[in-house]
This record gives sequence, structure tokens and C-alpha cells, in this order.
Amino acid sequence: SWTPDSFVETTVAELKAKIGDDKVILGLSGGVDSSVAAQLLHKAIGTHLHCIFVNNGLLRKNEFHDVLEQYKHMGLNVKGVDASARFLNALAGESDPEKKRKTIGRVFIEVFDDEAHKVEGAKWLAQGTIYPDVIESVSATGGPSATIKSHHNVGGLPDFMKLKVVEPLKMLFKDEVRRVGASLEMEPALLGRHPFPGPGLAIRILGDITPEKVAILQEVDAVFIDGLKEWGLYDKVWQAGAMLLPVNSVGVMGDERTYEKCVALRAVESTDGMTADWVNLPYEFLQKTSNEIINKVRGVNRVVYDISSKPPATIEWE
Ligand code: XMP
Repeated sequence: SWTPDSFVETTVAELKAKIGDDKVILGLSGGVDSSVAAQLLHKAIGTHLHCIFVNNGLLRKNEFHDVLEQYKHMGLNVKGVDASARFLNALAGESDPEKKRKTIGRVFIEVFDDEAHKVEGAKWLAQGTIYPDVIESVSATGGPSATIKSHHNVGGLPDFMKLKVVEPLKMLFKDEVRRVGASLEMEPALLGRHPFPGPGLAIRILGDITPEKVAILQEVDAVFIDGLKEWGLYDKVWQAGAMLLPVNSVGVMGDERTYEKCVALRAVESTDGMTADWVNLPYEFLQKTSNEIINKVRGVNRVVYDISSKPPATIEWE
């Protein structure tokens, strides 16, 4: 029967046999899947694994710095590449959700490709693809869910990068990936991280993206996520985040009328993201969080809570 320990043992042996003395490149996202894939490969081939962690400027507050440090502590051979300006410039003025995704996917490949070429003699590209990603991308070639949203983390490699692909987590579900990570003695805080979409905050900022909007949403998100952790709620929800709506509404502060932004908070329960239910967060928590956001974050005067399940709503708003 399947156990995380035996999975690690067999997979590490297979990776060693398959890769030998070759160099491998892996893109880290800060998420559980790519981190566990990296740790497995690290165990198999050590510093022949070259990790690249790209800041697309659409990560959570402080995430690039904090996660990069965490990776270094894990002993990974990792290079952080801050390409925020490149992504934000490419996205300027774009409001269409699918075009935003495509632009981010394209720029990511460009940046990653530049970096990959700096690793001389690399033969392999490792990816943290897990089983549900495989299913979703298969259905994306034909099924009805096909063109709903294009996930950019599967496929899409430029042809001239003649790397062989290695995907050690391809047959696993998320909970199994977490158990494998635990067996590799990875930090519980890293393994317990909520899923976060590749396009990041871009698909949580409805409408066009500006650095100011990113900064506002990072602050809102940080209040919400830190609050969930403080209240012991973080591990009880599958995924949570905030959406910046393209709506201004009237408010009042002191005796001034305001006309500012509205944010929606979203927290869901799920096992694989394919279906999801909104979480019944305590009113006291929502009350405190709403007050804190409105008091702390300049430019936001209204907070709403999303009470829609998937289907028919999706988890992300774009
Ligand atoms: P939806 O919004 O489709 O999201 O209900 C389901 C899960 O997928 C994540 N998601 C993405 N992940 N690239 C990704 O890597 C994407 O373009 C993307 N769109 C959605 C979402 O955060 C949720 O966990």
C-alpha cells in the first residue's frame, strides 16, 4: 500500500537512475507542489538541481523575500529573479481575464527561458505538476470546461528549449503531496500553505492592473490571511484571499464623504479546487477583519464577503 515514506524512497531512487549526472532546472512558485518536487529532486541529485523563483510582482506581501529565504534554509540551490517591472509593464492597460493570464504565461516563459539558458548543460525541466493539473489540462483540450480558464502551469514550453520533462508528483493528489513533504521533514508552515494561482493577484484585481492596485490588494490580503492565522482558522480553510473590485462606492470618514474601493474576501473549503463551498467564518472574525482593513488600508472603504460556492461560481473571480 502507498505510504509517503515508500513513495520518497522509490521516487528518489528512480530520479537518480533517470537523471544520473545531468543538470535539472525547476521553477519554484512558493507553493506546496513545486517546493515538494524540489525537495525530492534535491534529495536525489543535490546541487545538480537549479531552482529558479520568479517574482512576477503579483505575489502576496513580502512573499518573494520570505519564501526565497525559506528555500535557502532548505538547502536548495535557488536563484531569485525579480521580474516585477517586466510583468507589470506587459500587463498595463489590460483588463481581459484571459489576456492577463496569457500575458503572464508568456512573460513567465520569456523570463524563465532567459534564466534557464544561464544554467549551462541543463538537460531536464522538472515540474511540480500534480494529478488534478493533468486532468484539468486534458479536459482543456476538448471537454466542456476547456476554455473556461487557461491554466498556464501545464505545458506551454517553447520548442527551442529542448529539455526533457520530469514530473515526480504527477500521480499524486494535494493531500498526498503534503504527506510526502512531511516525510521529507519540510516545514509544516510551507506544507500547509493555501494554493495560490500562478497569475497571482492579477486575477484578483478585476479590471486593469496598476502597481497601486497591487499594493492595496497586498495589504488587504495580508490583514485577512494574518487574521486567519491568529484566529486559528487558516488551517481550517482550503484557500482564502481577497479580490479588488472595479467599483467605487460612497462612504463617510469623520465628516468627510469618501468614494473609494471595495474589496471582497473569499474563503473556501475544497479537496481539489474542482468544487468548493464558501466557509462559514465567525461573524466576530469578519467584523474585526473588516474594521482592520478599512482602518489600515488607504483607498478601501467597503468590505464584502463572498458567499458563493463552486459551481456555479469559481474560486477566483477571473
Ligand atoms: P477556479 O477559479 O477555476 O480555481 O475555481 C480553481 C483553483 O485553481 C487556481 N487557479 C489557477 N492556478 N493558474 C494557476 O496556477 C491559473 O490560471 C489559475 N486559475 C485558477 C485557483 O486559485 C484555485 O485554487
